[in-house]
This record gives sequence, C-alpha cells and structure tokens, in this order.
Amino acid sequence: MNNYIKFIMSISAISLLLIGFSSYSSSEGEKTYQEFCATCHGDKLQGGLSKSLADGVWQFGSSDTEIINNIKTGIAQNGMPSFKDILNESEIKDLVSFIRDEEKKYHKPQFEVISTINSFDYNVNVELVTDQVTEPWAIDFISPAKALVTEKPGNLRIIENGKLVEEKVEGLPKVLYEGQGGLLDVAVDPEYNKNGWIYLSFSHEIDGKGMTKLIRGKLNGNKWINEETLWAADEKFYIDTRHHFGSRIVFDNKGYLYFSIGDRGKRENAQDLTLPNGKIHRIFKDGRIPEDNPFFTSDENFYKTIYAYGNRNPQGLAFNPETGELWESEHGQKGGDELNIIKSGNNYGWDKITYGRNYDGTVSTEKVKMPGMEIPILFWRPSIAVCGIDFYKGDLFPNWKNHLIVGALKFEEVRLLDIEDNRVIHQETIIEKSGRVRDVCSAPDGSIYIVTNQPDKILRLTPQK
Ligand code: HEC
Repeated sequence: MNNYIKFIMSISAISLLLIGFSSYSSSEGEKTYQEFCATCHGDKLQGGLSKSLADGVWQFGSSDTEIINNIKTGIAQNGMPSFKDILNESEIKDLVSFIRDEEKKYHKPQFEVISTINSFDYNVNVELVTDQVTEPWAIDFISPAKALVTEKPGNLRIIENGKLVEEKVEGLPKVLYEGQGGLLDVAVDPEYNKNGWIYLSFSHEIDGKGMTKLIRGKLNGNKWINEETLWAADEKFYIDTRHHFGSRIVFDNKGYLYFSIGDRGKRENAQDLTLPNGKIHRIFKDGRIPEDNPFFTSDENFYKTIYAYGNRNPQGLAFNPETGELWESEHGQKGGDELNIIKSGNNYGWDKITYGRNYDGTVSTEKVKMPGMEIPILFWRPSIAVCGIDFYKGDLFPNWKNHLIVGALKFEEVRLLDIEDNRVIHQETIIEKSGRVRDVCSAPDGSIYIVTNQPDKILRLTPQK
C-alpha cells in the first residue's frame, strides 16, 4: 500500500512538473517577440538583420538554458542586445517556448539526392539544389537559409530556404558578357547583419574594351540599391581582350577586402607594378586604399591597391581559418596551375617563372625559380583548371575541418586537400565528372555547396546518416 501511494505521488509530481514546464505561454511569448525581437530576427523568425531563430541552427548554444542566457546577457560582439533589465524571467521563458514552437514548425529544406559518393571518411549525398540557373559563377551565403548566386550573363539570383527565387535581382549594372567576361564573384560582408553590404566583381566595358570592376550594394527584396563603385581602373587600363579577368573577393577580420584580377591575356603585365592586371589587390571595404599597402609609397606610378603580383589568372581566394593566411589558386598554362599563400608585396613569378608550358607545348621559360619570386605551395600537372577554393569550416564533416575544398573546371572535380604546416600532405578527389566546377563553398549549415557549369547546377554535399 505504501509503495502504491508513493507511486501515485511520484506520478502526480511528474505531471505537476510537466504542467509546470508547459505553463509558459507561447502566445504571450509571441507578443513579446513581436515587440522586442522581430525588428532584427524577422516577424516570422526568418532572420533579417540577424539570423533566423527558427531554422534549428544555434551558433551560441541550443539548450533552453543557453538560449535564455543569450537573451538575458545578449551577445555584445555580434550586436545582440541584453534583455535582462527589460524582460523578467517568466517573460523570457514564454519567449523561449514560442521560439521552440516555431522551430518545430520549420521544415528543413529537402533536396533530391542525385548521387552518392564514398569518400575515405564519409558516404556523401550529392543533392540537387537547382538546375534552373544559367552559367552560375559564384555563391555566398547571407544566412543559413539564404544564398546569393551570380550568373555570368549578368544576373544575381537568390536561393531562399533551399529554393531558387524565380525573380532575378533587378537593377544590376550591365556587364561585359563575352569570352571569360561577365558577372563574376559575389561576397557577403562579414558584418552583413549590421550593414547589409553585398560585393560583386564583373567585367566592365568602356568603348569595346574591358576590365574587371568591383562594386557593392544592398538588397531590398529583389532590388539592388545603394550601389557604390569600390574599385574601377582608369580607362587607359581597359583593353580589347576578353579573358583572364580573375576574380574573387574575400575579407579578413581586420576590415580589409582582397580581390584578384588576371593578367588579361597580357602575360608580361603581371610583373609590371604600374598596371592593375595579374595582381591581388587590397582595399578597405568602402573602397579607400590602405596606406600600408606594399607599393603605396614606393613609386608614384605604382598601382596603389596592389598587394601581391605575378599572378596569371587567380580564380580562387580563401582565408585559412587556422593560420589567418590568404590562400590563392590560379590558372597556369598547361601543367602550371598553382596554389599559393599570398603575402604582402610578394611576387608569384608569372611570367618569369612557371611550371607550365605554352598551350602548343612549347616552352615559354625554363625557369621555375628566381631570386625574389615565390614558388607555389603546390602545382598541378596536368592542369586541372583550378577554380574556386574554400576552407571547410562546418560541423557536418568533422574530419574535413580546415581542409581546402578545390574546384576544377577542366577536370570537373572537387578535391579535398589536407593541409598541415602550410604543406599539402594529401589530396582526395571527392567528386568526379559532375560538370565544370566554378565555385565551392563551406555553407553556414555545415554542408558544402558546389557550383557547376555544363551542366549548370548548384549541388550540396551532406553526410549520409
Ligand atoms: C538589434 C538587433 C537584435 C534584437 C532587437 C534582438 N536580437 Fe537576438 N541577435 C541579434 C544578433 C545580431 C545576434 C547574433 C547572431 C547573428 O549574427 O545573427 C542575435 C542572436 C540571438 C540569439 C542566439 C542565436 C544563436 O544562433 O545561438 C538568440 C537566442 C536571440 N538573439 C534571441 C533574441 C530574442 C528572443 C530577442 C528579443 C527579446 C532578440 N534576440 C532581439 C540581434 C538582435
């Protein structure tokens, strides 16, 4: 009998506890949410000035206790205010119960699995995000749920919650879509949540001549607004060729923006410090030129934005999260594709030294090294036509953390490079023959996005459960 009473008592204690927990009111929470949180996190918790609170992705802790703490103390360095003096304990718990209800309603986008790969570490699903894009060139993410894709003919597309938005972004400048020219890279400001800036590089035309140009702007729905020119060469640097425009755009965590321009088909120009082509450039995010750029003061004719030179056609740039160093990939000639670490003032040798040969097989220079010039960390022979690169930063493939993801156009491959102490100690080809790989991206949700041409697709890699 005694035991039976104990049993009944514990049952009622548990149900009391349960009632106790569920007594926080999601509907009260919703009111508080709309009043205090919606301006930044979106009226449907979808994100906006800051990230979505309903997508199941928690950067700062996913337990109720952690979320409650984050609301109380705020996350000052990221611009999340503290609410401990504004909301009381039970108001905050109502809020969390509302956020949890919304999180349950959120459906993670489902993608069609089009193939699987067995890599050394993982069995991987290759998912189709979309094949409704035209010559996609680059991808970058605004939030886990929202990505931007450039199309070389001149369009910027939005992928939202896994779906390609049908309307193209309106109001972009006209690009020179010819040869290798067109709309090229897109990069989202690392402080996008605060400032909304999006950066684009493209081939720009003046009177039939072309040159790479860099702009930034903001998105209002699908309208491109507040455009600013960040970097444009003087007209005299525009030339007739339609190849080797570069380009990639990346940011470090000190407020600098780096971008690349190829030699524009004038190989000897890469060594000429008075010309912008065949270089890696560094500017501030608003276009100002840092006075400590390596050639800022050395000679008044030197191009002041140059950060490094002697680069043939760099189409991959990425910061190594472990060392903070800038890694670069560039198309070489036949057999001379390079992987470099870019440092201020360095000369990467093109066209004085190279491991490549002319396309007709003849030798352009026997030299692979010369004093004052850098040899690559790695070169590919035969050339894989190395394009976009990115370091893997996510959690879905823990064994791939900080590996360099490398896309190849000609070889239609994605490779993973294991890098230790700035040496490539292993290369694994994880994707073969799935189209010319233009860009690769370690996505905020931990998956890997791949941009291919012929066929034009956006693919997504996730581990099989
Ligand atoms: C002024 C803008 C602003 C307001 C208002 C605001 N937040 Fe935030 N919040 C942020 C930013 C910025 C972050 C950092 C994450 C990011 O980069 O988006 C953040 C992060 C968070 C996180 C952590 C998310 C994670 O991924 O771990 C939680 C939880 C959160 N906010 C809840 C709230 C709640 C609840 C309210 C309303 C009481 C609120 N926030 C109001 C800007 C805001």
